[in-house]
Amino acid sequence: KLASSKTILKKAQEGNFAVGAFNAENMEMVQAIIEAAEELQSPVIIQTTPSSVSYAGLKMYYNMVSAEAENATVPIVLHLDHGNSFQLCKEAVEAGYTSVMIDGSKLAYEENIELSKSVVQFSTKAGVEVEAELGTVGGKEDNHEVAGKDILYTNPQQAVEFVEKSGIQSLAIAIGSAHGFYKGIPKLDFERLKEIQMAVTIPLVLHGASGIPDEMVRHSIELGICKVNYATELRAAFTKGVRKVIENDNTLIDPKKYNAAGREEVKKLVKEKMQICNSQGKA
Ligand code: 13P
Ligand code: ZN
Ligand code: NA
Repeated sequence: KLASSKTILKKAQEGNFAVGAFNAENMEMVQAIIEAAEELQSPVIIQTTPSSVSYAGLKMYYNMVSAEAENATVPIVLHLDHGNSFQLCKEAVEAGYTSVMIDGSKLAYEENIELSKSVVQFSTKAGVEVEAELGTVGGKEDNHEVAGKDILYTNPQQAVEFVEKSGIQSLAIAIGSAHGFYKGIPKLDFERLKEIQMAVTIPLVLHGASGIPDEMVRHSIELGICKVNYATELRAAFTKGVRKVIENDNTLIDPKKYNAAGREEVKKLVKEKMQICNSQGKA
C-alpha cells in the first residue's frame, strides 16, 4: 500500500531531514527509485508531471508504482507534480495517487488561493494532502517556461496568508532555484528561506534541485526544506546509461539490455541524493 505524504513530511520536518521526490518517466526509473529507497531504508516520493501523465497515463504510473511497492518495507508516496488543473488533481486522486501538487503559481494571487483551496477541499476527503506553489520557480518544467526576469520570489508574509486561506499541507517556494540545469552556480536566497520557515508552519518544498550544488541543498534542508524535487538529473542519468551501452554495440537490439543500464545509473544517482537529503535509515 502506498503511503500518504502526511506522515513522512511531518517526520522530516521534526527530524530536520528532507524526503527526496524523484520524477519517474518509465518502469525502469520507478524500479530504480524504489530499489534505492529499500537499500538505504529511506522514505521516498515518486512523482509524475502532466507531460508524463500524457505519455503513459495516471493508471499506468499508479499500477507500476504500486506493483513495485507491494513488497517494499519503506514508505512510498506517489505524487502528482505540477498538477495544472483541478480536474487532473481529481483524476490523480481517483487513480490512487497518495499526494498531489496544484500549481497555480502562474495565476493571480487570489486565483491561486481559490484553485488551491478547491483541490484541498476535494483531496482532503480522500485523505490526500496537497502541495501548492507561491512565487515562481524559474526555467522550464514540462511546456511551461518562466523567463528569468519574471521570476517572482515567495514573500514570507504572503506565504502565511496563502497557507491559511488555501488550507494546503505543504508549500513550494521560490527562492531562486530553477527547473533544469543552471548556467553557472545558482543563487539561492537563504535569508528569505529562513524568514519563510519562521513564518510558515507546514513543510516547505524545494523545486529545481538538479544542478544545485550538494552543499546548498544541505543548507536549504538545515533551514527548513522538507521535500527536494529532482527530475532533470534522473533523465540525464538514465540516458547516459542507455547511451553507453548502445554506443558500444551496434548489433544490440534488446531493450532490456540498455534499459537495465539506464536503471543502474538512476539508482546510483538516487542513492546519492538520498544521502544529501539525509533520509537514509529514516523509514
Ligand atoms: P529539476 O529538473 O531541476 O530537478 O527540477 C525538478 C522539479 O522541480 C520537479 O518538480
Ligand atoms: Zn518543480
Ligand atoms: Na534545476
